[in-house]
Amino acid sequence: MLSDPSSKYRAFAPVSLPNRQWPSRTLTKAPIWCSVDLRDGNQALAVPMNVSQKLELFATLVKCGFKEIEVGFPSASNTEFEFNRRLIEDGRIPEDVTIQCLVQAREDLIEKTVLSLMGAKQVIIHMYNSTSPAQREYVFGMSKQQIVEVAVRGAKWVKERIHRLEESGTKVTLQYSPESFSATEVEFAKEISEAVMDVWQPTPERRMILNLPDTVEVAGPNVYADQIEWMCTNIKNRESLIVSLHTHNDRGTGTAATELGLLAGADRVEGTLFGNGERTGNLDIVQTAMNLYMHGVPIGLDFSDMNAVREVYERCTGMTVPARHPYGGELFFTAFSGSHQDAIKKGLDAREKRGGGVWDVPYLTIDPKDIGREYREVIRVNSQSGKGGVAYLLESEFGIELPKELQREFGPVANDEVDRLGREVTAAELKEMFWKEYVERVSPLELKHFHADGTKEVFRCRTSVFVDGEEQHLTGEGNGPIAAFADALIAAGQPAFQVTDYREHALSAGTGASAISYIRVQTPELKSVWGVGVDTSIELSSIKAVVSALNRVLAKMK
Ligand code: KIV
Ligand code: ZN
Repeated sequence: MLSDPSSKYRAFAPVSLPNRQWPSRTLTKAPIWCSVDLRDGNQALAVPMNVSQKLELFATLVKCGFKEIEVGFPSASNTEFEFNRRLIEDGRIPEDVTIQCLVQAREDLIEKTVLSLMGAKQVIIHMYNSTSPAQREYVFGMSKQQIVEVAVRGAKWVKERIHRLEESGTKVTLQYSPESFSATEVEFAKEISEAVMDVWQPTPERRMILNLPDTVEVAGPNVYADQIEWMCTNIKNRESLIVSLHTHNDRGTGTAATELGLLAGADRVEGTLFGNGERTGNLDIVQTAMNLYMHGVPIGLDFSDMNAVREVYERCTGMTVPARHPYGGELFFTAFSGSHQDAIKKGLDAREKRGGGVWDVPYLTIDPKDIGREYREVIRVNSQSGKGGVAYLLESEFGIELPKELQREFGPVANDEVDRLGREVTAAELKEMFWKEYVERVSPLELKHFHADGTKEVFRCRTSVFVDGEEQHLTGEGNGPIAAFADALIAAGQPAFQVTDYREHALSAGTGASAISYIRVQTPELKSVWGVGVDTSIELSSIKAVVSALNRVLAKMK
């Protein structure tokens, strides 16, 4: 790399737009969406999709709600041509969906494209030629005037042919792209677009699409927004145009460029699922749409089964959606960090108590359920996690509602074990750790039998307990079964202790027991030690919790 890159690279010259309006606007409605997965996305694949893969992805795009789908470049290959024919002849295009085809401004290619579309109900013919200085000079060796002539000739060839489609009942919309628009002087982009408009003669009733591609991101998203606002303000007959955005992602700001371009006045957006496309990809249309959704804007697209969309996308394209990809990635919602987990748990609890309302759960931009994801995948536990995540998983997976102070006690126990394992742990493994630490503590004390009866004032119990493997028959009394049991144990020489907290609740089905009790005890030496018992009887679960607590006290006193 160069210590001074200015000898090789330079900043992109900004557009002069002193009165720009876009920075103070807000997005309040969704644009027209056009998927270019089957064309731009497909062109970028090492192994392009075959007809059946394209058909499957097409069906998924329709299911997601796309009404405009660029299905290919039918003059470029037989597969692409065949694909159009299959779509049309098999009647796979829903009434309200328009298919779009890309073509260069060449007569033979335009002819082939028109042939591929015969019989379709509604189509967009998308013609392009490149307009940037580098393309003009190095690729085509043409002057500005010659580049305009290429576009105008192409526009005429298209115009001469569309009546054949229209006469057979096809509604045709025309689209022009000055390819590499964002690297083109805005004045020249206007000139060439207006020259094409002169041929196609769009009207407010029959608008043409003017697509302004950020073919390669050469500047920041604000510059693209300026270019779009400049075009929307200066181009003639703006009301006869649908201004469309088509961004790529070379600087990693394709989504930002599209969002700012929409603020700048565009009506339509082209992009692909999860941003597949040349180099760093096309605009991620899922991301752009979901960004609007999370601001409460109806998007007209449906990603309520995001995993299924991702699965089809990955299978058909051979690409993978990175785990941390916005909205679509496996870890989009996941928090490993303890403080995040704690905040999420509190936010979700508060929301449940409140009974819904506006979404404001910390760290989660949207409700996972809206895109078919589950709360269980939000909180995952590794060595970075804390008590909040552990408690959340035990509760959400097994219905174990740890009292706050017990969470504080068990959190570090679990954390040490997870740290030792050096990996993420499942909820089942956490439950195993919890059981080992509390419920399965049967040494040195193990309960064999317990029976208590009495009145409100006095309970008497008879119990047998193994102490270091030796059975002891004990009796005790107190103002309830727990107090009577404590009395029996203390009288038999166990450390004096007081029960300072007691909770119990029913356990959900599948845990093999119907009640769980949590007991906190205090001894002269130890302020707070918890024990947990589970049993089909509530009373026995509480007695087992006392045994668990005392076993833990004895372990600590060693
Ligand atoms: O990126 C681009 O400029 C394109 C055009 C053909 C629209 O894909
Ligand atoms: Zn593109």
